[in-house]
Amino acid sequence: MIILLTGAAGFIGFHAAKRLLSEGHQVIGLDNLNDYYDVKLKQARLAELKKHKSFEFHKVDISNHEALDAAVKDRGITHILHLAAQAGVRYSLENPRAYVQANVMGHLNILEFARHSETVEHIAYASSSSVYGDREDGPFCETDKVRSPASLYAATKLGGEMLAESYQRLYNIPQTGLRFFTVYGPWGRPDMAYFIFTDKILKGEPITLFAPDEMRRDFTYVDDIVEVLPKILASPPTSGHAIYNLGNSKPNTLMQLVDAVEAACGQEADKIILGKQKGDVSNTFADVTAAERDFGFSPNTDLGDGVKRFVEWYRAQSRA
Ligand SMILES: NC(=O)c1ccc[n+]([C@@H]2O[C@H](COP(=O)([O-])OP(=O)(O)OC[C@H]3O[C@@H](n4cnc5c(N)ncnc54)[C@H](O)[C@@H]3O)[C@@H](O)[C@H]2O)c1
Repeated sequence: MIILLTGAAGFIGFHAAKRLLSEGHQVIGLDNLNDYYDVKLKQARLAELKKHKSFEFHKVDISNHEALDAAVKDRGITHILHLAAQAGVRYSLENPRAYVQANVMGHLNILEFARHSETVEHIAYASSSSVYGDREDGPFCETDKVRSPASLYAATKLGGEMLAESYQRLYNIPQTGLRFFTVYGPWGRPDMAYFIFTDKILKGEPITLFAPDEMRRDFTYVDDIVEVLPKILASPPTSGHAIYNLGNSKPNTLMQLVDAVEAACGQEADKIILGKQKGDVSNTFADVTAAERDFGFSPNTDLGDGVKRFVEWYRAQSRA
């Protein structure tokens, strides 16, 4: 496959690229290297990827369709893994326009690129568990109604699914939407709870927890996800557009995450406990029957093991 990978300098993009390259595919990576979090981390990920001769990188903002076309037109791209997005629920309260720009306009430009390409066979794109809204029940199934996004981030991700559906119907472009559930691991995102807790605990600073016994997340280790991405990309859905949950299917409370980070750091945290934050959902819980059936998806990394691997990476990169 000749794969256009958007968000290649991002957390999941980096791991996905490594996996695809290890299987012998060619990866053309794009990213705008925005400063939502430390750009040095994005550059360090790219430096790792550039060691591979089948990887190339272009700094491009996908919300600029001319720049996108100039970088990748006529390159014989057969598959697109579209992961670039403005991520994060809380930041969407501060900077709503960044979400519409990247997640709606950027997504549309990827679809337009594919529509005018003669070589693209399949697009797999990142959606999110946040499309399920604020629910107490679970597990969440792909066939559940999703009409109540609790944040603008979730609304733009749901919008992305709708754009994909319309382009499939209008132009017959095979697509697969991937609803990721709280993905974590080495090289992870500094805005996410496990990263912030590790950083603060190791520095001896207090951590702030929002409704830690009430909040449950289906924490999913990144390797469990990227393992199935090549297979998903290589399998355009017969229905034209399919959506899959990719989650661990074993939710833990936020307090259990803190316990895992404390154990991995060998230090107890000084905790400041506050109530639930605006836009946050209480619970995420994936039903992964469909991904298991179609791709053999079988997440098997326990939260304690995954967090331990993250903390080992964190300590190693802090020393470097
Ligand atoms: N990590 C998770 O827990 C999680 C959960 C659900 C969904 N997702 C989705 O998975 C995808 C990857 O997430 P991630 O955790 O790797 O986030 P990330 O922020 O690490 O990666 C996203 C990358 O996209 C790039 N980007 C943003 N806007 C861009 C633009 N306009 N043009 C080009 N590049 C742009 C960023 O610079 C970043 O490197 C995103 O679509 C995200 O919404 C992630």
